[in-house]
Amino acid sequence: MKKIIYILGIESSCDDTAAAVLKNDEVLSNCIANQKIHQSYGGVVPELASRAHQANIIPVVQQALSIANIDKKHLSAIAYTRGPGLLGSLLVGSAFAKSLALSLGIPLIEVNHMQAHLLCHFIRNENKKAPSFPFLGVTLSGGHTQLVYVKSHFEMEEIGKTRDDSIGEAFDKCGKKMGLKYPSGPEIDRLAKKGNPDAFAFPVPKVDGLDLSYSGLKTAFINLVNKNINKNPNFIDENLDDLCASIQKTLVTVIMEKITKAKKKFNLNNVVIGGGVAANYEIRKILNQKAEENQWKIFLPPFQYTSDNAAMIGIVGYHKLLKQQLGKLNQSVNAKLPF
Ligand code: KG4
Ligand code: ZN
Repeated sequence: MKKIIYILGIESSCDDTAAAVLKNDEVLSNCIANQKIHQSYGGVVPELASRAHQANIIPVVQQALSIANIDKKHLSAIAYTRGPGLLGSLLVGSAFAKSLALSLGIPLIEVNHMQAHLLCHFIRNENKKAPSFPFLGVTLSGGHTQLVYVKSHFEMEEIGKTRDDSIGEAFDKCGKKMGLKYPSGPEIDRLAKKGNPDAFAFPVPKVDGLDLSYSGLKTAFINLVNKNINKNPNFIDENLDDLCASIQKTLVTVIMEKITKAKKKFNLNNVVIGGGVAANYEIRKILNQKAEENQWKIFLPPFQYTSDNAAMIGIVGYHKLLKQQLGKLNQSVNAKLPF
């Protein structure tokens, strides 16, 4: 009979304090404490994030254990995010995970946050099978935008990345210019549904190979808004939906071009998406069209696993524990942890 493994996953890389309990590859609880404090600053303030993690981590872990109906003494291992992320934020989660693992005498497992965004597709799902290897992984988050050749669970090679801003950052900075609250990606997504995507044209940046760039596009957007506000102070209010639809369309076009190119170059049919921007309606629509019209095999995460969460940390922990890839108590966090 298969041994039952209970994993506690802990995620604290940015501004979400999250804890989850998994029974093998099945999620029993997935709890997140969002930090509203950053909204008034229009972006994450690292020092405030660390302090909020300190305040949230014990209640969130207690909640995850209680919803899963598991006593901590039954845990098999603790998986935590080692990086990449904000140093102070990572330190809170890692210190907590290490102390708890030490006190319970159970293994500690280090998880790469970006790998976890892709491996969330291995969480058991009654409606969909997990992707088969090799596949093209695409991480679309607030800190990263990467194309990844995924050979197996833990053999991943970055084949393309943004040279400047991430796609999430571009959504957020364009949203900030329009006076939308942080993070603006979900708000742009919502407003774009009522707008005309062809109302405003923005240049699609040309970058060789599989790298991409978003900062020029963001600047083109800010310049367009500035120019029009000079003529009409109500420009944003009068054109909000169209601005959102037009910039969203271009942001998505940039990544779609590179996904198409990478897929062809590496002859991969499975495309696996991860990260907060994977919740975006436009990108989901276009990828689903590709699946229908061009027989691409698309894997989009369920919404609860798009933005930062601890279930994705737990599933990586489960697969690492099966392979006995255990972490060390003296291993420090790494804000720039590579694939
Ligand atoms: O992966 P994530 O939760 O955190 C990081 O690891 O960075 O991604 C957060 C990013 C933010 O930039 C947020 O604006 C964006 O994901 N986002 C969206 C949507 N939902 C979240 N962007 C566009 N459309 C959405 N529906
Ligand atoms: Zn993330």
